[in-house]
Amino acid sequence: MDTIIGIDIGFGFTKVTDGKRFEVFKSIYGEAIDFQFKESLLHQNAEQDEHIQIDLDDASYFVGELAERQSSNRQFTLDQTQFVATSTKILALAAISRMMKTNQASFKVVVGLPIGHYRQYKSELENMLRQSHKLGITNAKGERKEVVIGISEVSVIPQPIGSVMDRLLNDVGKAADQRFAIEKIGVIDIGFRTSDYTISDKARYSERGSLTTQNGISKAFEVIASKLKDSCGVNVELYRLFDAVESGSIKIRGKGFDLRKITQVAFQQLAANIASDANRIWNDDWDMDAIMITGGGGSVLAAYLQPLLEGVIIPIEQDLDYRLHNVRGYHKYGCNRWASAASPASTAKQPISEDSATDENANKDDT
Ligand SMILES: Nc1ncnc2c1ncn2[C@@H]1O[C@H](COP(=O)(O)OP(=O)(O)OP(=O)(O)O)[C@@H](O)[C@H]1O
Ligand SMILES: [Mg+2]
Repeated sequence: MDTIIGIDIGFGFTKVTDGKRFEVFKSIYGEAIDFQFKESLLHQNAEQDEHIQIDLDDASYFVGELAERQSSNRQFTLDQTQFVATSTKILALAAISRMMKTNQASFKVVVGLPIGHYRQYKSELENMLRQSHKLGITNAKGERKEVVIGISEVSVIPQPIGSVMDRLLNDVGKAADQRFAIEKIGVIDIGFRTSDYTISDKARYSERGSLTTQNGISKAFEVIASKLKDSCGVNVELYRLFDAVESGSIKIRGKGFDLRKITQVAFQQLAANIASDANRIWNDDWDMDAIMITGGGGSVLAAYLQPLLEGVIIPIEQDLDYRLHNVRGYHKYGCNRWASAASPASTAKQPISEDSATDENANKDDT
């Protein structure tokens, strides 16, 4: 039987799960190089570092941290058009390769797209993925194997809806929390690059009240990076700031910089912008029952954001890294959609249908 997999390809991180294991890696890839000093490198790092290296369509790539460290020619694109066309396939297959137990396996995949690009790229993404893919996987020891990834079904859903599915459904895709099936809930998904706003009305995606803005955590990181540039003249790449911001300091050319004050200022400003966007686009949705904050950026900004939002906030669930709530929801949605096909008796009770999770309202403004 095909394995159901959820993949959330964010601008910051790619997240993947088969319902049992989760993997997260930075959404960066680059040309694979031959390690000249392989032995010493491996000796030091093999234990703690993930090694993701795939060969696809006659090219060889390092993915995630490995690309960040080793590739001279790194791709870290924040441009959505290029993102979908070139990066998505590499990152999605790299993600699936992490879930492979054998050299040949077949999958059904649920993948999310940002709200603002959902309609435009949905079919392109489906067609690109729904195929049989041959790739080479090389492990940290340099051992290479050929694998075949078969993808029989692809379902694309608007990214933040993953977090609603996560709350609505249990691990086998059956309704868990009825609240999400009957209420009108606003979702704010704060990622690295974007913030997505959407409304789940009785577990249906509503295109009205949905918006993607560029107010992701990277906005705050830009402020921090520019301050660092002023202080020491070094351009720190944004994706290198995660750990520094988390720990509150960074070392540049041997000198330590305290980042706490500037982080607080930058986060406060970003939260104010996000809240004002939410209050504006949902101005007419006064019948909304509650607001849910999600995404990796949601966990760091929630404290700043809550006092600024108009409405009841659904408390953040601390059971999982906040970056993973969407992808866990995609997996549950896949179980709801595909696992139940095998047992038709259960379909009458389906809390959601494909349309409801996806473009329920898409046709309305087409006509
Ligand atoms: N353990 C962690 N490591 C790194 N970043 C974390 C961690 N926990 C939370 N974060 C925050 O999560 C953010 C990324 O969140 P997320 O993975 O949801 O973004 P994304 O989906 O990649 O981006 P986008 O939605 O814009 O495409 C980071 O900017 C960081 O602030
Ligand atoms: Mg995201």
